[in-house]
Amino acid sequence: MLTMSLPAHIELNNGVRMPVLGLGTYLMEPERARRSVLDALSLGYRHIDTASFYGNEREVGEAIRESGIDRDEVFVTTKVWNDDHGHYRAKEAFRRSLSLLGMDHVDLYLIHWPMPGRLETWKALESIYEEGGARAIGVSNFMPRHLDELLERGSIAPAIDQVEMHPFLQRNDVLDRCRRSGIAVEAYSPLARGRHLDDRTLAAVASRNGRTPAQVMIRWCLQRGVAAIPKTTSRERMKENLESLDFVLPPEDMATLDKLERNSRTTTWDPHEMA
Ligand SMILES: NC(=O)c1ccc[n+]([C@@H]2O[C@H](COP(=O)([O-])OP(=O)(O)OC[C@H]3O[C@@H](n4cnc5c(N)ncnc54)[C@H](OP(=O)(O)O)[C@@H]3O)[C@@H](O)[C@H]2O)c1
Repeated sequence: MLTMSLPAHIELNNGVRMPVLGLGTYLMEPERARRSVLDALSLGYRHIDTASFYGNEREVGEAIRESGIDRDEVFVTTKVWNDDHGHYRAKEAFRRSLSLLGMDHVDLYLIHWPMPGRLETWKALESIYEEGGARAIGVSNFMPRHLDELLERGSIAPAIDQVEMHPFLQRNDVLDRCRRSGIAVEAYSPLARGRHLDDRTLAAVASRNGRTPAQVMIRWCLQRGVAAIPKTTSRERMKENLESLDFVLPPEDMATLDKLERNSRTTTWDPHEMA
């Protein structure tokens, strides 16, 4: 039994509650995704992140049904991909995603990247939200100026901005911008895809706290009020990552991690450069 030392949910700007820790499913081939989602749900995960681009929505939906857990208890996110921007295409893409997931709604629908046409796409998401197809809508990889544009031209403020974030890429500009407008931040690649797990400073913080480097990276996000969706197909690592909920990093260790910024991005595209 975990002792929760911080709220295990984030309340979004429309009152919807989202578990702070979820399972990411990028680069999980479909059958692997089905098994991993089943494992995660059996361990207590109640938040699953997928996307049309990942090609595993069908298996994610099947695993949730197979788990026997009430649909209402699992927070499901999916995303509209870059070649489906524009009002009509985005609505079609959403219908496809729902049909693959085998669901009548998702909990969160995101614009995956800030491509040209995003304002029209956002209007489509607004209408999906108003029709009850998504309990919340948001964006991903939106930098402050993309958010400014959306807040100025859209009718509904995004509930979430999902961005790459970890101690080696801190994105404080995004965090500040989101905080000012009540937008929740969700960290993707919170483990930097494993690239910095052997960093000496990180290892020292982990050892001082009797934790693993992965748990420290995830916990650093959570203590900044940021949700995190680490991906793993290993049941042991799922458990390890979930246990990031049950300890607290002291302020001096948070300050040490705050000094690890390296602008170390794992994606090929730099969202700051997207027009
Ligand atoms: N919106 C976007 O543009 C976007 C972009 C990228 C990712 N995402 C989302 O964010 C999720 C997470 O990001 P990510 O998959 O890029 O990277 P990540 O979660 O930072 O790292 C995943 C890697 O870390 C390994 N790992 C997981 N737990 C570990 C642990 N406890 N100890 C050591 N290694 C561990 C995994 O290996 P094993 O699987 O072998 O355990 C995998 O290689 C994605 O799956 C996806 O849902 C969104």
